Amino acid sequence: METSKPIIYFVEKGLYKARLNHLTALAEKSNFLKVNKNYSNQVTHVLAQDCTKLQVLQFLKKVKKLKPDELSWENQKFVNISWFTSCMKEKELVPVLETHLLKDEDENIGVPSKKLKLEEKIPMYACQRSSPLNHKNKIFTDALEVLEEHALYRGDQNADARSLAFRRGSSTLKSLKHKISHINDLKNLPHIDIGGSSKPGHCKRVIIDILANGHSTEVEEVTSNEFYQTMKLFCGIFGVGPQTARKWFYDLKLRTLDDVKNCSSISLNRDQSYGLEYYEDLNSPLPLLDAKRIENHIREVATSIQEGIEVILVGGFRRGKQVGHDIDLLITHPEDGKEKILHKILDKLKDEFVYTDKKAGTTENPYHAAKVTATSQSTTDHFEKCYGIFKVDKTDKAAGENHKRTWTARRVDLIVVPYSQFPFAVLGWTGSKHFEREIRRYSKSEKQIVLTSHGMYTLEGKQNIPASSEKEIFELLGLEYQDPEDRNC
Ligand code: UTP
Ligand code: MN
Repeated sequence: METSKPIIYFVEKGLYKARLNHLTALAEKSNFLKVNKNYSNQVTHVLAQDCTKLQVLQFLKKVKKLKPDELSWENQKFVNISWFTSCMKEKELVPVLETHLLKDEDENIGVPSKKLKLEEKIPMYACQRSSPLNHKNKIFTDALEVLEEHALYRGDQNADARSLAFRRGSSTLKSLKHKISHINDLKNLPHIDIGGSSKPGHCKRVIIDILANGHSTEVEEVTSNEFYQTMKLFCGIFGVGPQTARKWFYDLKLRTLDDVKNCSSISLNRDQSYGLEYYEDLNSPLPLLDAKRIENHIREVATSIQEGIEVILVGGFRRGKQVGHDIDLLITHPEDGKEKILHKILDKLKDEFVYTDKKAGTTENPYHAAKVTATSQSTTDHFEKCYGIFKVDKTDKAAGENHKRTWTARRVDLIVVPYSQFPFAVLGWTGSKHFEREIRRYSKSEKQIVLTSHGMYTLEGKQNIPASSEKEIFELLGLEYQDPEDRNC
């Protein structure tokens, strides 16, 4: 039967041209199989010499430039050429044995570590692990975070789940005490070595690619593509998120900031106009020293209005980052100063703000506020606050000479928090975003407690649980305390 003949394809990788020609001629002469010179989804048997299935797939993608949807590897047998030579010897088809199949992964990828690693038992939730800012696996986590970002940019079906899967994989690696140097190091890692499946998950494939080749082909494809680069550019505009950026990219075919400025069919909102005007400033790395200066300045202004006001710098800087993208400041007062404190502070600073966007709060009843937040699945809270753009004096003379301005525009957020909710707000605004997502997920699933930046309460009975410090919140949740510096997951 003509149609039932296996259709084979020889993977050129690692085959001399002469040998390839010889094998092809043999196959063409046989009357029990067909040979395809090119890979296609018609092929039933993909034949290769001394490689793993993963390496073949990489070859097809990278060298043969096949797109993921042109590969139908799930329906094909990946077989060693030894199977073909057996067939030739026997002058008929021989069964494909287990020994003929290409291995899924190369157990020799990477360098096995000489030291015996202590069996680390890694907890499932990121908030149960310590994730320092400087960790050993940056080469892998950077790659996974590009894919996380790309998934959000694409925003197609399952985008949230896909991006979260990459973040979870990356977050596991951030908590490891050792550098991943061998495929065996991946055994049993939460969200990376997903048990039960013989097919490696996406995170694992990326890591293996980097171990084998020093880089990930997929990540390189993503970062070099126009869509990703343009989305990154547009999402860097204050007030622009993936949805707007996608519309600009696909519907309006915009590619540059000038395209956006000159496009007559879009009307930018206030955030976006300022975002565009100060694009360069707002996207230049913000040093810790500048953040500290602003923190002190705003504290002085606040305490000059009312004694005893506390101002603390939260966000990435509290986690030990030396550079950030904005300044997040929490403001509170032991006596719950309700006398329009934000209004008064902003009034004193009005010449220093380029732009302010005030949000009224609804924090009178912490239980209510907590409930409102908890049901809406997001980390948005209900504090009275101001998202603004602030003029930060240039300390660097050289920088000042290049521009007319003597200041740099920086994003500053001021958040006013009732004293009783302060520890929860500090925890919520210290981040990282993933840490917050995880500690809330942990609380709900493992402790049946709803945690927000306003407070926490039991799911059953809706009982409010007060706490007077971050440490106490961890303790009440049965979690080992993590310093802010260890919440960089
Ligand atoms: P940021 O987005 O400022 O991130 O939010 P970051 O960690 O400080 O990083 P860089 O250095 O600025 O880029 C800080 C924390 O505040 C929370 C976020 O969840 C994050 O944990 N947050 C932010 C809120 O709770 N509510 C908001 O409206 C915004
Ligand atoms: Mn921040």
